[in-house]
Amino acid sequence: MPLLGVNIDHVATIRQARMTNEPDPVHAAVLAEMGGADSITVHLREDRRHIQDRDVRLLREICRVGLNLEMAVSDEIMKIAIQVLPAQATLVPERREEVTTEGGLDVKTHRIRIQQCVDQLQGAGISVSLFIDPSLSHIEIAKELGVTAVELHTGAFADARTPEAIEIEFDKLREAGQFATSQGLKLNLGHGLTYRNVRRIAEIHGVHELNIGHSIVSHAVLVGFERAVREMKQRITL
Ligand code: PXP
Repeated sequence: MPLLGVNIDHVATIRQARMTNEPDPVHAAVLAEMGGADSITVHLREDRRHIQDRDVRLLREICRVGLNLEMAVSDEIMKIAIQVLPAQATLVPERREEVTTEGGLDVKTHRIRIQQCVDQLQGAGISVSLFIDPSLSHIEIAKELGVTAVELHTGAFADARTPEAIEIEFDKLREAGQFATSQGLKLNLGHGLTYRNVRRIAEIHGVHELNIGHSIVSHAVLVGFERAVREMKQRITL
């Protein structure tokens, strides 16, 4: 059964809409754990549009499950990661104008810079995952970079609208997932997963963890955080 990583960025998005102190993502993390979250994810963006430095420090202190810090390949954020020491850092591409992370990390073009970042994080004892598109050549490079895990971008699958397109994107994920596990990499998947589309992804052989944010936070606004996480956990229980 895959583990469930709950991304709580958008709890902070609601708080930042008023620049106030509620709702507190730390509170959401506690409720997510009560609902069965196996890890908590936050993305400390360079523009600090949702998660703030203080959130990361407090979450590291209070989370009983592992904290997964999504971060750009950036010296500033790397310094913070090395101070806070999350269980895992997931390196993601970041563009200021994007609404959410679009596309996986370009490990071919930025290989040297990514290797430096991976080495520094791993040197500090942080396990590293790379958020990449479901491409075999990118998985090969991830393996050569020496990371523990890859997170395959499920956005194209989630956005596909016709049955044919859904099958094409699903096959890419399944094949890339199989290749990643055959290379000894932990297989995580995420982005755009919802209560409706998660089941097939949860059934991919060898999945270690699914990282889900927006859909859970959206449901939680209506039914409460603990219940929203419990219901997603039920969906991925095989
Ligand atoms: N995984 C990564 C690497 C992400 O950047 C995000 C979005 O922050 C997610 C998973 C979660 O995506 P969603 O909010 O669409 O569930």
